[in-house]
Amino acid sequence: MEPLRICFAASEVAPFAKTGGLADVSAALPARLGQLGHDVRVFMPLHAQTDLSGHEVMPVDFLHHVPIELGDHRFHFSVFTTKLPHSQGSVDLYLIGCPQLFDRPGIYTGDWDEHLRFALFSRAVLECCQRMGWSPSLVHANDWHTALLPLYLRTLYAWDTERFGKTKTVLTIHNIAYQGKFPADVVQNLGLSEYSHKLYQDDLGAGLVNFLKTGILYADVVATVSRTYAREIQTEAFGEGLDPLLRARAESVTGIVNGADYAVWNPETDPHIAKNYGPDDVAEGKAACKRALMEETGLPFDPRAPVLGIVSRLTAQKGFELTFDPLTEALRFLDLRLVVVGSGEDRLQDHFHWLQRTFPHKVFYWQGYNEPLAHRVEAGADIFLMPSRFEPCGLNQMYSLKYGTVPIVRRTGGLADTVQLWNPETGDGNGFVFDHFSAAGLTWGLKAALTTWKDRDSWNTLRANGMRADYSWDRRVVEYEDLYRSMVA
Ligand code: ADP
Ligand code: GLC
Repeated sequence: MEPLRICFAASEVAPFAKTGGLADVSAALPARLGQLGHDVRVFMPLHAQTDLSGHEVMPVDFLHHVPIELGDHRFHFSVFTTKLPHSQGSVDLYLIGCPQLFDRPGIYTGDWDEHLRFALFSRAVLECCQRMGWSPSLVHANDWHTALLPLYLRTLYAWDTERFGKTKTVLTIHNIAYQGKFPADVVQNLGLSEYSHKLYQDDLGAGLVNFLKTGILYADVVATVSRTYAREIQTEAFGEGLDPLLRARAESVTGIVNGADYAVWNPETDPHIAKNYGPDDVAEGKAACKRALMEETGLPFDPRAPVLGIVSRLTAQKGFELTFDPLTEALRFLDLRLVVVGSGEDRLQDHFHWLQRTFPHKVFYWQGYNEPLAHRVEAGADIFLMPSRFEPCGLNQMYSLKYGTVPIVRRTGGLADTVQLWNPETGDGNGFVFDHFSAAGLTWGLKAALTTWKDRDSWNTLRANGMRADYSWDRRVVEYEDLYRSMVA
């Protein structure tokens, strides 16, 4: 079959710029598609904090100082290119440079021109396709930042039938809680004043424009990152106000569970951890990694004391308030360790600082973003906590399974699709799953895990179940390929 031409646009791509799982997915999925022989081109803004060390980056001479008008604003962008890692040289990453908009302290900002930053990025993606003389079979947009792409193709770029006449669009929702809502007077700056009748009229009437909603209206297919989340966002409880629209488009809404990128997250090859290991030498490997993690964090090592790990953005989504009482109680009475890596809301950071001060020999908290330490927590911990209120997919539970670190999760979104409750009778299951978003639910999961921990045979089986299963992109990429093929056909 003919290879597909896939234009993939995302605000963050690992390892260059990352705040969360979107970056991991935007690196791994295109790389796998490229390995399958498709012509994949990935686009990302050249954020000030983009880490290009160790990568050969070249300016694209015919994409230098390209002018773009957005309403009254005039910008220029210049493009740089490098190879996407782990794509065996098959995928080019294009970095859209526009210092005026992307030289900011963060990838996302609360600045007045946030809408312009990502509108310019989306427009630049299409300008690049035109100037490359490249006609994508598909444009794959991700989250609100690039959700205007389907509408731009149907309006400002509709004249270019040679390039885009057959181009289909997919919008993946990685997190419906972030929608890109702006006051309606930005419409002119998006270059859409002539087309305002195409925007969601009730919103405009209420003085709003919503990027994600616009994408849901105009994308040929709306994908999300797990089957359960695809169902959940069509309900009032999870839809963040977009559920009526998603229900109306139900036939075009689909869920494909993310994969874990084993090129980056694999204890057999991970360069960040004290000892590499796989399912056959997991006991020795994890013991060495646990000892090293305890040394690094200054906590006393005791092979009998289970180590609990958390690596996460600290936001309401992640549900850590459920752990406040149960963990404090457990740390008071039981011999455990807790290592937390994450930053976010003050109330959550303050809590973990307090926990560390209260139990200095049991708790270590790293406030901030630390990729190597995240790998060492996956390797050195015995149990991983993800009590999410909602979780579109979640990657860390899949990394944990691969590293033999048993996850305790709430049954929601991708956590429900990837973690199965341990059944001591049958020896099936790979973790502990609780249903109710409550401290009681979490307590139940924690107790079940700690009880199983004491039974070494059960623990070994449970751990092996997770390590031996395949959560890689190798399986998932085929689902994306099938989806793309069905659209292009
Ligand atoms: P989300 O995208 O909602 O944050 P995911 O589980 O999909 O959740 O992905 C989170 C990704 O970000 C993982 O790769 C995780 O290791 C990483 N991560 C989150 N917080 C930190 C942190 N403080 N330090 C290092 N890595 C982090
Ligand atoms: C979002 C979600 C997370 C998902 C990630 C990648 O950030 O919160 O659940 O795994 O995107 O799709």
